[in-house]
Amino acid sequence: MNQAREWLKAASSVVVLTGAGISAESGVPTFRGAGGLWNRQRAEDLATPEAFARDPLLVWQWYDWRRASLATVQPDSGHLALAELERRKPRFTLITQNVDGLHERAGSRNVIRLHGDIWMVRCTACGRETRDERAPLPELPPRCESCGGMLRPGVVWFGEALPQEAFRRANEATRRADVFLVVGTSAVVYPAAGLVPLAKASGARVIECNIEETPFSSGLDRSFRGKAGEVLPQLIA
Ligand code: OAD
Repeated sequence: MNQAREWLKAASSVVVLTGAGISAESGVPTFRGAGGLWNRQRAEDLATPEAFARDPLLVWQWYDWRRASLATVQPDSGHLALAELERRKPRFTLITQNVDGLHERAGSRNVIRLHGDIWMVRCTACGRETRDERAPLPELPPRCESCGGMLRPGVVWFGEALPQEAFRRANEATRRADVFLVVGTSAVVYPAAGLVPLAKASGARVIECNIEETPFSSGLDRSFRGKAGEVLPQLIA
């Protein structure tokens, strides 16, 4: 821990990649592992354009349930530690796969969202994007106010491209990182997971925090087995 703390302290450019595990202590279920299923269905079977085309109501019920559960949670000590770390560093980028908005609510500023935002909705007919924070939504599937078309969640689904500019910025920041922190992600969903080997290849010290081992754990500079809400405050202490 001491060595990792020193690396972090000395770094002027810090990049963090987070996944669902950082919000677990806020009470948000992760996608994989215990509690990851909704109605016995996996995220891979619901978060796809095909699933939405087949059964938009079912997919919307899942998102509506997730939105409603998010409306009652608060950022946890892991989110807060990263917001504090950002205040201390001249260059800091937080890349997240999460769509829950908890990093921003914790005070993080320079956030790159790779998988969109669960509070945004987009019309499948006219493309209009709006923010809708009502949870639960009054009508499912929700309809576009301007054209009446069906709305979809403003998130990235399996098989869809990541927002190009966000991913470009994530790659650029990763290449310049002195320290790259990977927190609470199973690191199996690409292209986001590819940022971890990119950071390593670009010369960053790569530090992981996860309650379980991931495919990258053994090849990193440090891998801490523990909860983000406990490990991160110690790391930045
Ligand atoms: P996963 O659910 O795949 O992984 C969560 C990770 O967090 C696991 O490796 C857990 O061991 C770890 N974890 C759980 N609790 C933790 C805690 N308190 N502290 C630290 N680690 C903890 O979530 P992601 O890796 O974010 O994509 O999943 C990646 C993408 O797959 C998501 O963005 C989503 C999903 O399907 C889309 O919807 C496109």
